[in-house]
Amino acid sequence: MVALLENPLRVGLQQDRIPEPQILVIFGASGDLTQRKLVPALYQMKLERRLPPELTIVGVARREWSHDYFREQMRTGVEDFGGGLQSEELWNDFAKGIFYCPGNIDKPEDYQKLKELLSQLDEERGTRGNRVFYLSVAPRYFGEATQQLGAAGMLDDPKKHRLVIEKPFGRDLSSAQVLNKVVRQVCPEEQIYRIDHYLGKETVQNLMVFRFANAIFEPLWNRQFVDNVQITVAETVGLEGRAGYYETSGALRDMVQNHLMQLFSLTAMEPPNSLDADSIRNEKVKVVQATRLADLEHLEYSAIRGQYTQGWMKGKNVPAYREEGGADPNSTTPTYAALKLNVDNWRWKGVPFYLRTGKRMPKKVSEIAIQFKEVPYLMFQSAAKQANPNVLALRIQPNEGISMRFEVKTPGSSLRTRSVDMDFRYDTAFGKPSTDAYSRLLIDCMLADQTLFTRGDEVEASWRALTPILSIWDAPAPPEVIPLYEAGTWGPVEAELLLNRDGRRWRRL
Ligand code: BG6
Repeated sequence: MVALLENPLRVGLQQDRIPEPQILVIFGASGDLTQRKLVPALYQMKLERRLPPELTIVGVARREWSHDYFREQMRTGVEDFGGGLQSEELWNDFAKGIFYCPGNIDKPEDYQKLKELLSQLDEERGTRGNRVFYLSVAPRYFGEATQQLGAAGMLDDPKKHRLVIEKPFGRDLSSAQVLNKVVRQVCPEEQIYRIDHYLGKETVQNLMVFRFANAIFEPLWNRQFVDNVQITVAETVGLEGRAGYYETSGALRDMVQNHLMQLFSLTAMEPPNSLDADSIRNEKVKVVQATRLADLEHLEYSAIRGQYTQGWMKGKNVPAYREEGGADPNSTTPTYAALKLNVDNWRWKGVPFYLRTGKRMPKKVSEIAIQFKEVPYLMFQSAAKQANPNVLALRIQPNEGISMRFEVKTPGSSLRTRSVDMDFRYDTAFGKPSTDAYSRLLIDCMLADQTLFTRGDEVEASWRALTPILSIWDAPAPPEVIPLYEAGTWGPVEAELLLNRDGRRWRRL
């Protein structure tokens, strides 16, 4: 703890500082993200007194809403998806800083209107020309919105203007490269904040602290001791009415390229030289650049896709993906993906990293499990009649925490062993819920801290690693090409075989 305070091993942890007065302009403000996540996160920070009193929110979207109507929508968001208002007076104060500006992404005149409103608000609310532009629009508009903002002179000041871009950043390597180029023509990398909300999760940030603030784990964190690493992000939800987006995306683009690759790179990277944003991001890029699918000749040995069929979840019958509203009845969009990655460097050569994610899995659970090698020779009788290697599991969500599995002697006269878990839980240790990911990221962006945002070359490196699969999975194919799994199960049988072939199994979660 002392080390945490003295040595600033504080990964983007500047949350104690209050940002300067500013205006947060949200494009796509009539969408779900604004109502369910962004504004509730901002209000929570208001409750915690972490925002400057002048903070102003301007929503931009096509619909002809009034300021008051927008405020009502945001209030509903805080009530239904946040922690509630808690104080009518505080809400009124917060709502005074909320405005709405109808506008179209492709109309230059609408940007002029917005610009005038922002200058007027600078006068009225003392926001001093500081702006964060948050693009929460359909990804195909990221480039256009950035260019229009640039043309309107709204991203001219590198110190005062910042641009936040939601995921997915591109849909493959070449589109990500094009988008990077477009965005960088308008403003330098220092002004660009590519968001991946997994990086805002407390447990994800803790990965660096766990690895680099403890002396005992790092010496084991390599090919000499680690047998394999399993990264799982399982969800119970299905399509949730997002067919329009998901049909063009699928598990690889929606989850693997961003969230799982972030978990992977933080687990596999070398220690950075310091904690500034670029030192950390340099190490993440380096490890992703050294990463490739385990078997490029036989992709079926390194990448498995799947799609859920009808099944039972908590006693309720749920429809197959292809029967969900808006999905193509012959869709081959993967709702599940499992990959085997190899890292070509000294630390990890020969250690497979297995990544898996899926919708309609039996449980919502995300974890990183470091599976250590077996003891060289087993002298004891194990209850499981086999060696049980040690496992270090970092639970990202829920039940955030860390557990270490090791063998102990079972009580009694015979010398038998059994596996037990030594467990650390965030809630029992710290007693309060961790900060919401969006709160952390919004505040970091207002503080101009890029540590928890993805750099352009990092996005490209991760698309590059996945390109061989994308080119095959994207090709038109008959519906039977994709392995199916019943909703409420752990994915297709092919994914089990991926590990069985290596003499391993997925962890039971
Ligand atoms: C989003 C994906 O980025 O992450 C969703 O688009 C997914 O499909 C969500 O459900 C998962 O986030 P979390 O924080 O609930 O794990």
